Amino acid sequence: MATVTVTVASSLDVGRARRPARTLAVEIGFTLVDVETIALATSELVTNLVRYAKGGAIHLASISETGRSGLRLEGHDLGPGIDDTAVAVQDGLSTGGGPGGVRRLMDGLQLSSSPAGTHITAYKYLYRAA
Ligand SMILES: Nc1ncnc2c1ncn2[C@@H]1O[C@H](COP(=O)(O)OP(=O)(O)OP(=O)(O)O)[C@@H](O)[C@H]1O
Ligand SMILES: [Mg+2]
Repeated sequence: MATVTVTVASSLDVGRARRPARTLAVEIGFTLVDVETIALATSELVTNLVRYAKGGAIHLASISETGRSGLRLEGHDLGPGIDDTAVAVQDGLSTGGGPGGVRRLMDGLQLSSSPAGTHITAYKYLYRAA
């Protein structure tokens, strides 16, 4: 299971995305704490797709870059977009995860958004730099 795509249309899809996220994270070799963290980040992305964008898709992939491997978590939707992406990624803006929470849970986050849609890509690496 190197890549997985889950289409998201309703809150039922939180579980449909969370399970393969856990499975892929275990396969990559993450600790159980990191596996749960990745599952939580996945839940937050899916929840926002349902709540704000009327659905979209989640892509999960194992990644291997120069010297480090890990997992990439992507959320795509077709709008309405986030007005202020700088504010949206701030941690503590909301009670839960959201873009800011996903950034805190993962090791890196890229967010691009327009009225046509939002694309969030988050990364978690197996071995952190010391
Ligand atoms: N996919 C998205 N499309 C459009 N707007 C979004 C999307 N994801 C998040 N947002 C906007 O970014 C804001 C911050 O998201 P975040 O998930 O942090 O907060 P929340 O969903 O309001 O609260 P919580 O996640 O704690 O229930 C949201 O209030 C929403 O306006
Ligand atoms: Mg949210």
